[in-house]
Amino acid sequence: MKTMLSGIKPTGRLTLGNYIGAIREFVKYQDEYEMFIFIANQHALTVPIEAAELRKNTKDLIALYLAAGLDPEKTTIFLQSDVPAHAQLGWIMTCLSGYGELQRMTQFKDKMAKQETGITAGLYTYPSLMAADILLYDPDYVPVGIDQKQHVELTRNLAERFNKRYSDTFKIPEPLVTKVGAKIYDLQNPTKKMSKSESSPKGCIELLDNPAQARNKIKSAITDSLGIIQYDPENQPGLANLITILSALTGESIESIVDRYQGKGYGELKKETGDVVFDFLTDLQKRYKEILDSKIVDKVLEEGAKKANAVANKKVAKVYRKVGLKI
Ligand code: TYM
Repeated sequence: MKTMLSGIKPTGRLTLGNYIGAIREFVKYQDEYEMFIFIANQHALTVPIEAAELRKNTKDLIALYLAAGLDPEKTTIFLQSDVPAHAQLGWIMTCLSGYGELQRMTQFKDKMAKQETGITAGLYTYPSLMAADILLYDPDYVPVGIDQKQHVELTRNLAERFNKRYSDTFKIPEPLVTKVGAKIYDLQNPTKKMSKSESSPKGCIELLDNPAQARNKIKSAITDSLGIIQYDPENQPGLANLITILSALTGESIESIVDRYQGKGYGELKKETGDVVFDFLTDLQKRYKEILDSKIVDKVLEEGAKKANAVANKKVAKVYRKVGLKI
């Protein structure tokens, strides 16, 4: 059986983008792959965050993983900080990464270009920790949204560099990017990614949003004045984004949706998409509440940490021998 691994950082509340680009894929593949899904809580410290908020986001994220359909019987679900091997290999990957190589990471460059204050060294080196997160488990594939693809490519480079310098140690992983929904856009600014940290409340649907408010956000999404329903992300990004959301949540193909809407207006498409989002969130949140009430979260994490540590500790021991840390 081939292996897959991915993670999400609990920096804020999860968005519909996280669901469509990532979580939905994890759930889809868990029957076919040996699956490791974790909460990248150490990555959440790269930006200032209150301890209470981090705790709450972390619990919510695990409950949402389960509510979305991740099954702890099939998938190893764990907290990054419960597996010290991530930080251990993270340092080694940081020392293997070039200074300039990290400077070329688009996400980091974008933050620098915006001249945001308070950029931490952790934000700069986080792709090296992400490489460690991945390489510890020798996955064949890493399902991610398009914005994380470059970091998986860096991971490949670091793995190859290590294997060459010290002998074969890591499997070279491949990023797996979904065809529909690899980047869900801000509803008010449809050339920008829908993001928990950067979108305005109206532009971003959170998985824990009130479903009726989420439906209204879809209704007031920015489109265009062409008045033709076709899938043209370049010239009609807002409309393409709505079609993508509808397709991802229902499984109906983009072509079929476009066909169905020939001769119809944007209002109708927004209504259907809004209703689908409403139903999706209502259902998800019902399961989310049941999961939080059931106290299953602690048990899932305990089991997950055991399994993940067993795999990761072996890999770190091997790496420590190879690089000369173990005498
Ligand atoms: P994060 O937490 O920013 O995002 C988690 C996942 O959600 C995807 N995503 C989106 N997909 C489609 N449309 C959007 N608008 C959208 N926004 C986010 C992301 O591409 C990602 O797949 N560094 C990572 C977390 C991480 C990780 C890892 C992932 C740490 N270690 C190892 C994979 C493997 C991050 O910040 O993702």
